Amino acid sequence: MNMQSRDNAPANTADVSRITGGRRMRRNRRSDWSRRMVREARLSANDLIWPIFLTEGANVREPVASMPGVERFSIDVAVKNAAEAAELGIPAIALFPNTPPGLRDEVGSESLNPKNLVCQACRAIKEAVPDIGIITDVALDPYTSHGHDGVMAGARILNDETVARLVEQALVQVEAGADIIAPSDMMDGRIGAIREALEDAGLLDIQVMAYTAKYASAFYGPFRDAIATNATLIGDKRTYQMDPANGAEALMEAELDIAEGADMIMVKPGMPYLDIIWRLKDAFSMPTFAYQVSGEYAMIQGAAQNGWIDGDRAMVESLLAFRRAGADGVLTYFAPRVARMLKDGLI
Ligand code: PBG
Repeated sequence: MNMQSRDNAPANTADVSRITGGRRMRRNRRSDWSRRMVREARLSANDLIWPIFLTEGANVREPVASMPGVERFSIDVAVKNAAEAAELGIPAIALFPNTPPGLRDEVGSESLNPKNLVCQACRAIKEAVPDIGIITDVALDPYTSHGHDGVMAGARILNDETVARLVEQALVQVEAGADIIAPSDMMDGRIGAIREALEDAGLLDIQVMAYTAKYASAFYGPFRDAIATNATLIGDKRTYQMDPANGAEALMEAELDIAEGADMIMVKPGMPYLDIIWRLKDAFSMPTFAYQVSGEYAMIQGAAQNGWIDGDRAMVESLLAFRRAGADGVLTYFAPRVARMLKDGLI
């Protein structure tokens, strides 16, 4: 196109009204009020679950280098943050411990210690902030010397032996005040075994959030820095976490978890697996959650820090996408930041 024709534009007018029969999709997008009026998915603080990393000590906030903006909290600091989260309307937090190296062993014994970091945090948060839900992670990896989620025999992860320990771990956490048990280990049968143990103990009101479709993902890297398992992890987790190529298999996993007594299901990671969220929500109508994992967070933050993308907009867009895909809520490290923006009317 030369200068002249641009200056004289429009030289030609296409007869769009005839072509589309008068349908013009842009009408509803014309102004902010109209876009708000026809908006399908919405975000509220109620949709957010905040994963928090715990560390030993008092008054400690340790930045996690690969997750800019995320810190590990000592229990006293975690309590303050839980109070702030409740204030912001965030319904629940999820606790993950950075276990001191000296307390890690082959079978993850520290997971059963009623005074471990997670249990102490549960008690402290329950007492100080009774109105926030506490989700605890059931898995052995923060406690094992090899960084795997189960007990090992040579290079193998033993399923049934691991499940027996996970059941005990879940009971210890409930005893400490956990409201929702969230097994992230991907052993077969663990949801049913935990549900049965809860029932046997008369713990009829404890919710179970199953990590139903948890994939063997490269996007967990920064999380493994946060709980210090990257350095020690031997091999990978492909014999228990799902193959990223599989979708139908997620439906089978969900069917089992639901039959075994899950109250809610989850897909993890989030953004590369929006199709799985949609399929599970569509097939089972269960409360369905997405975990926007550490690598997803790091990608957005890293690009934003370099000035390559607008971090706030990318954050909000990514979270809205989960809602649009059918997720009832999202575990996200952005939770307090988004909740604050929502409260300030910025979203
Ligand atoms: C392990 C666990 C992982 C995450 C939560 N629980 C990582 C893994 O499977 O190695 C990842 C969360 C994240 O990346 O934000 N039980």
